[in-house]
Amino acid sequence: MMFKGKIRVGSDKSISQRALILSSIAEGKTYIKHLLKSEDIDCTTRALRMLGVSIGQKDEYVVVEGKGKFSLRESGDVLNLGNSGTGMRLLAGLVSGANFLTIFTGDESLRKRPMKRIVQPLRMMGAMIDGRENGAIPPLVIRGKYPLNGIRYEMPIASAQVKSAILLAGLFSQGKVEIREPLPSRNHTEIMLKSMNVDVECVDRLISLGSNRILHSPGYIEVGADISSAAYFMVTAALVPHSQVLFEDVVLNPTRAGILDVFRMMNVEFEIRNIREVNGEKIGEIVVCYSPHLQGVSLEGSIIPRIIDEIPIICILASCADGKTIIKDASELRYKECDRIKAMVENLSHIGIKCEELPDGIIIEGGKLTGGRINTYCDHRIAMSFAIASLISKDNIVLDDTSSIDTSYPMFFKHLTNLTIS
Ligand code: S3P
Repeated sequence: MMFKGKIRVGSDKSISQRALILSSIAEGKTYIKHLLKSEDIDCTTRALRMLGVSIGQKDEYVVVEGKGKFSLRESGDVLNLGNSGTGMRLLAGLVSGANFLTIFTGDESLRKRPMKRIVQPLRMMGAMIDGRENGAIPPLVIRGKYPLNGIRYEMPIASAQVKSAILLAGLFSQGKVEIREPLPSRNHTEIMLKSMNVDVECVDRLISLGSNRILHSPGYIEVGADISSAAYFMVTAALVPHSQVLFEDVVLNPTRAGILDVFRMMNVEFEIRNIREVNGEKIGEIVVCYSPHLQGVSLEGSIIPRIIDEIPIICILASCADGKTIIKDASELRYKECDRIKAMVENLSHIGIKCEELPDGIIIEGGKLTGGRINTYCDHRIAMSFAIASLISKDNIVLDDTSSIDTSYPMFFKHLTNLTIS
């Protein structure tokens, strides 16, 4: 069996979220091409409709009827964001500046995820927020206020969700809004706000909002393919002899493309071609080939936020590389859809890989994958990572459940089948 051909993987989830949310409060209609079709995006669409936004479909476009930032209306019911941390955190920032009540809930996993990180700055800006454990975990209840106060905020963690929640609330504030990140996190919100004529200045790790906080629809947004989804098949192509896969339209934003630096360090053979720009985001083609000389690697510091969602599949690659891989400074992995450090250590051990759990990471000894049972903890990235491991192992790897994959990449198995040559 080998993997060959070309593929446009599912569209970028982070950019799709922002395209829906920002065009909902922009002035004018936005036609969105290639919006991701997935459960997380369905949840955000439903929530925005409940806040009074009209979102429809015309041919290949999702059409958002933006009526400006004061057009949102109180929802008659609780907004259920399902499994989506991005959806809940960004929308919490958005409704903090609206003079009405919003209640957020989510599935069992989302109801355990930390919200203090957004609740604290949003309260400082003047929103009244309560929730379980004094607002630490959902359900969250937000009584918004207009105008909000300005804020100068030193973020304790590098989180694009926190930064974006503050920027969205900042659109409804009359004071200065300045955010400093400890390390650069993904900057899709800043890029899209700029493309909608909002003054956002980014100097080093300081992001500030200028005086123009009215969003004008660019009319058309095209969403590129998600490098986090491509990562599963890029690793497959690198690991399976005779494989070569071309990935089309992949978002190459440097705050997201850290996996390509990891590939360079680990001796993955790949090439980037035909780079172009859409809505301020770089996209291009990546060709990945079978790579027989994989090396372990040490990953820590500023690369971590740039690979945060790819670490589970990087762990699979590392399991098949020569030598040790050490990942540190990644304690944020414990607060994703599941505790991904624990899930990776437990499941890699089930399939014969020697590894060690660190408080903020994992050490992996490259070896041979055996068969075993996998507990995916209803986390899409754990499920996709071990689905790929099952292609590499000679023995059977059995996953307890793969339905979580629909949150980000419902076409995963179909795309995998399309690339497979037996
Ligand atoms: C996301 C930011 C990241 C990432 C998540 C999507 C976003 O989370 O893990 O999958 O779209 O802003 P943090 O910002 O919490 O690190």
